[in-house]
Amino acid sequence: MPEVTAWPADRRITVSDLQAATDRGERWSMLTSYDTLTAGVFELAGVRALLVGDTSAEMVLGYRDTLPVTMEELIPMVAAVVRGTRTALVVADLPFGSYQAGPEVALANAVRHLKEGGAQAVKLEGGRRVVPQVAALVAAGIPVMGHLGLTPQSVNVLGGMRRVQGRGEAGDDLLADALALQRAGAFAVVLESVPADLGRRVSAALRIPVVGIGAGPDCDAQIMVWPDMAGLTSGRLPQFVQRYADLHGELLDAARRYAADVAARRYPDQAHSYA
Ligand code: KIV
Repeated sequence: MPEVTAWPADRRITVSDLQAATDRGERWSMLTSYDTLTAGVFELAGVRALLVGDTSAEMVLGYRDTLPVTMEELIPMVAAVVRGTRTALVVADLPFGSYQAGPEVALANAVRHLKEGGAQAVKLEGGRRVVPQVAALVAAGIPVMGHLGLTPQSVNVLGGMRRVQGRGEAGDDLLADALALQRAGAFAVVLESVPADLGRRVSAALRIPVVGIGAGPDCDAQIMVWPDMAGLTSGRLPQFVQRYADLHGELLDAARRYAADVAARRYPDQAHSYA
């Protein structure tokens, strides 16, 4: 008997597929992805949507925060993730400075992500203040994912990257932002670093999927930054990060053994040489 699944095997997942999964009560997952090989692995694993996030600024390009990354740097990563996948929905982040000035500039940059990168959707940060941008993109046929709570592009006003957002009365404000994004036509909202009860409240109030990252267990879907998930990043990580592997340790061990083999003339041996 062929496996019966509500997820398409022969075409890209759409925002309607994500909504349908949420409507039937199915939890689904997202990961960030910045290159062809990881994208293919994550799709094979059943991760339904991949975000080419501006965390690539830190994870790939070595910047201190997400602010410096540009459209020119992100687009080739979007294209690589699209080339490495057949069914995953690919969401491209709009970087800092690419949409804040207004709907026109937001539209021009979102169009670039779809035309040059091949993404199927874009993500931007903010609530009521970006509603005109969200409405303009949706009117142009571009699916938009919102991002609330800890919004890393606002690190300089939030006072650091480890602050839990939305406590107390700020929770009501955040809920109003989420509802405004939904009204403007966003297909989903990422909720980052907020108390679990606010994650539950927002998920219950919104029809569209709420994608949690440090927002407790009750969101409709989850997203993680893949090097955090796989243990490639080291040092102190936010409390919500669960490491599912120790890639840092594995890679370190592999590279050390390789370097030692070369030094000891054990590699390459006969078996790895041409006759
Ligand atoms: O850029 C990114 O990776 C993100 C996730 C943290 C949601 O926005």
